[in-house]
Amino acid sequence: MTAKDRRAPSTPLPPLLSDVGIPKRMKPTGTFVFVLALALSPAVFIGAHASEGVAKLPAWNAYQCNISEDIVIQNANLMISLGLADAGYNYVNIDDCYAAKQRNSDGDIVANQTKFPSGMKTLTDNIHALGFDAGWFTCQLYPGSYQNEARDAKLFQDEWGFDYLKYDNCAVPFDNITRENIMGRYARMANAISDLSQSTGNPPLILSLCEWGREQVWLWGKRYGQSWRLTLLLFSGNGNLTYEESKTHFTAWALMKSPLLIGTDLETASDQTIEILTNREIIAINQDPVVGTGVTPFRWGINPDYISNNTHPAQYWSGESQNGTVFMLINTLDEPATMFFNLTESPWIRAGIQYSVRDLWAHSNNGTAVRNFTAYDVPPHGVVALLLQDAGDEPEGLWPPCAVTEWCISQSGVRID
Ligand SMILES: *[C@@H]1O[C@H](CO)[C@@H](O)[C@H](O)[C@H]1NC(C)=O
Ligand SMILES: *[C@@H]1O[C@H](CO)[C@@H](O)[C@H](O)[C@H]1NC(C)=O
Ligand SMILES: *[C@@H]1O[C@H](CO)[C@@H](O)[C@H](O)[C@H]1NC(C)=O
Ligand SMILES: *[C@@H]1O[C@H](CO)[C@@H](O)[C@H](O)[C@H]1NC(C)=O
Ligand SMILES: *[C@@H]1O[C@H](CO)[C@@H](O)[C@H](O)[C@H]1NC(C)=O
Ligand SMILES: *[C@@H]1O[C@H](CO)[C@@H](O)[C@H](O)[C@H]1NC(C)=O
Ligand SMILES: *[C@@H]1O[C@H](CO)[C@@H](O)[C@H](O)[C@H]1NC(C)=O
Ligand SMILES: *[C@@H]1O[C@H](CO)[C@@H](O)[C@H](O)[C@H]1NC(C)=O
Ligand SMILES: *[C@@H]1O[C@H](CO)[C@@H](O)[C@H](O)[C@H]1NC(C)=O
Repeated sequence: MTAKDRRAPSTPLPPLLSDVGIPKRMKPTGTFVFVLALALSPAVFIGAHASEGVAKLPAWNAYQCNISEDIVIQNANLMISLGLADAGYNYVNIDDCYAAKQRNSDGDIVANQTKFPSGMKTLTDNIHALGFDAGWFTCQLYPGSYQNEARDAKLFQDEWGFDYLKYDNCAVPFDNITRENIMGRYARMANAISDLSQSTGNPPLILSLCEWGREQVWLWGKRYGQSWRLTLLLFSGNGNLTYEESKTHFTAWALMKSPLLIGTDLETASDQTIEILTNREIIAINQDPVVGTGVTPFRWGINPDYISNNTHPAQYWSGESQNGTVFMLINTLDEPATMFFNLTESPWIRAGIQYSVRDLWAHSNNGTAVRNFTAYDVPPHGVVALLLQDAGDEPEGLWPPCAVTEWCISQSGVRID
């Protein structure tokens, strides 16, 4: 899938893939907006199958329901002072628990006045974004939008001034009411947003499908939204990740082209966390304007034939990018490892070509790789992220004459392998 494929045709410059890491050039409007997503998850290690760990409710952040106008403004300011805004994080997401538990007598959602005393419109004079829910209620049982899609879309965009709707999948009405699957429930909101845009002439709200990767959302998400969550969310800065694990987690999320929703308390975030979250070379690939497809494993695990299991998921990944082939190596072991691969194990590498190596964490040029590459002393649970670029023909005289010696044969018919 290319980045272009991810866009609904009618939507101008949506956030390419992420709720957060949107370089300014990709902004949907001229206004500067932020995402501080309070959405994340207890997913600690990539590839550790989400199966058991998938939250029924999206556990969303350092704050959970304990949000307020002050917290949102404070974090928005920190996003600027800590350099996150400059790195491309340009939305602030409030997520759940912003509303009173009941709609008002007109049927509108009402912001909680204790938490947001100045009102939502005032808040969005500086900040834009929102979490909401596709069922009867939100995940925390605040009012959801089912059967109120048009009314709520209008409130969010026209009256409250939000640009971005993170729409969850909790509190699902009975089947004998919806007669729809997940896709159909999202279609209702997408249609409401589109109708509203057509009637007002304003650009449509950006719709972020927060349904946790259910029902192969990657196959249909682009019909309705501009961003869709595939799994649990970004954890860097929370929980018990080591520095190396936090780097690994961020790298995996970013290079798999996941939405980059920061879910940590920026006031207490460490310098290391901020360093990780602002790795511009990694974010650039997450936001690649040409290639939308993420990295995928070329070896699946460490068992015979490289099959994976829960404790030892794929270690060797690669993918295309605007500027070359991206490699991600993850040491899933509990001790340091030397990690070796032949370049042509990746489908995105040309045989007979040598490649310059850029280390996307060390931010250094690491010489030229001929046929293979070895990363030494990769820390336990650590990561290596590389960008390989065509550096011309490989030296003459290398043996064997085919890097992959499977049916390798000379012009005169002499088989080499
Ligand atoms: C909620 O946030 C306030 C201030 O932001 C803090 O003082 C309080 O301890 C938090 N409460 C909980 C239960 O986390
Ligand atoms: C608003 O939030 C406060 C603080 O969490 C809570 O005590 C209060 O009940 C909420 N008000 C409404 C109308 O839900
Ligand atoms: C839908 O199913 C529920 C639960 O079985 C039932 O109580 C309700 O009457 C049904 N509603 C309609 C409209 O058929
Ligand atoms: C962090 O580790 C402690 C001790 O093992 C554990 O009690 C706690 O739940 C962990 N926190 C998270 C967020 O995983
Ligand atoms: C490709 O390289 C250019 C020039 O350095 C840079 O501006 C751009 O962000 C890079 N693109 C990606 C996807 O890394
Ligand atoms: C996964 O495979 C590794 C390597 O063979 C093995 O040590 C480990 O016990 C396996 N884990 C599970 C949960 O099967
Ligand atoms: C790497 O290439 C060498 C030389 O062709 C071959 O012997 C080796 O088995 C390959 N290793 C892997 C992991 O593909
Ligand atoms: C890696 O490639 C080089 C050629 O550049 C070759 O000399 C070396 O034997 C290869 N290493 C392995 C382990 O295949
Ligand atoms: C690339 O070079 C830098 C600087 O020497 C070094 O710190 C880093 O470990 C190297 N990266 C790899 C993957 O070998």
